[in-house]
Amino acid sequence: KASRASRKDDHVRLASAQQTEGPRRTDFDDLEFVHHALSGTSPERVDLSVNLSEWTWPTPFYVNGMTGGTETTAKINRDLAIAAAETGLPMACGSMSVALDDAEAAKGFTVIREENPDGFVMGNLGAGRSADDARRAVELLRADALQLHINPVQETAMPEGTRDFSTWLSGLEDIVAACPVPVVVKEVGFGLSRRTLTLLAEVGVQFADVSGAGGTDFLRIENDRSPADDFSMLTGFGQSALACLLDAPPEWTTQTTMDDGVSNRVLLASGGVRNPYDVVKALACGARAVGVAGTFLQTVLDHGPDGLVGLVRTWKTQISALFALLGAERSTDLTGTDLLTRGRLGEFARLRGIDVTALSHRSDVH
Ligand code: FNR
Repeated sequence: KASRASRKDDHVRLASAQQTEGPRRTDFDDLEFVHHALSGTSPERVDLSVNLSEWTWPTPFYVNGMTGGTETTAKINRDLAIAAAETGLPMACGSMSVALDDAEAAKGFTVIREENPDGFVMGNLGAGRSADDARRAVELLRADALQLHINPVQETAMPEGTRDFSTWLSGLEDIVAACPVPVVVKEVGFGLSRRTLTLLAEVGVQFADVSGAGGTDFLRIENDRSPADDFSMLTGFGQSALACLLDAPPEWTTQTTMDDGVSNRVLLASGGVRNPYDVVKALACGARAVGVAGTFLQTVLDHGPDGLVGLVRTWKTQISALFALLGAERSTDLTGTDLLTRGRLGEFARLRGIDVTALSHRSDVH
């Protein structure tokens, strides 16, 4: 238990160290919009709320799952929850495994509900937990949804990790079937491929967050924690959020009519989101909402809950301004913008057979 607790603190410390390293080029920098100088709209006409099947969120971005279970991380969850309550931001917590076995550790999660009794809150567990664990995690937090993370790259590099992924898909299927609230399957910074998304759809998963590479790097975090079993040879492994969105299969990107009515699968994105422009780029590539972990973690560490409230307000204003610049009044309008995929992102798209020319001419049909 002691080692599991110190792991939580290590993750925060090492993720924060990555945040303070200064700017890095990422796939977000490889995506550009074709500029059309007569957009025809204004920020006053922009509606930032987004529909995700049965939910409406007031903002197209949310606090992604990070932490809880120790004294330091309980404080972080408290600060995040205060800011979420103040701004209406949906929020997830980190893995609740530790909370299921230890009442003291559970307080580091339930603090989220105390500070934000009416907000949209997501619990979090790893693949490989039982359906009963999932039910208990949801109850503990009165969660509106449960994030289930699939993190095979992290587990491979983690000294205490599992390297046996043989039962994860069937385990996921059991949890999805038994969980009293919707399950959001997510990676932790290495991306969900087309094939993975198809498998998830086949077992009934309705919500997925591709959580791609380019932001918080859990390979490096685990290598820093255990230099004796070093996997830095995998540096750069995985796909970015934008690559995953462009690669996503039609069952996740189009509203197809199924036997039981309309498919309402919802694709979310995260991984390396630094600013409002990154949010807008992910929305333009088809994400219905965008998760932010490392950037918001650093904000509460440096400036507390008030700092995050201020940042979220700035992001909302600037996202509305960017929508107006791009001629979008709802986030779904952004899927009609003309995208230029350059550099590494463009190469990925070409190698995967994605029609990059069609992406650059999406507004022609309007
Ligand atoms: C995470 N992340 C994470 N994800 C998850 O599903 N369960 C978890 O317990 C954690 N723990 C965690 C701790 C810390 C300190 C950070 C920064 C992140 C992963 C997170 O949700 C996200 O997928 C990645 O961090 C990529 O997003 P960013 O950080 O680049 O915005």
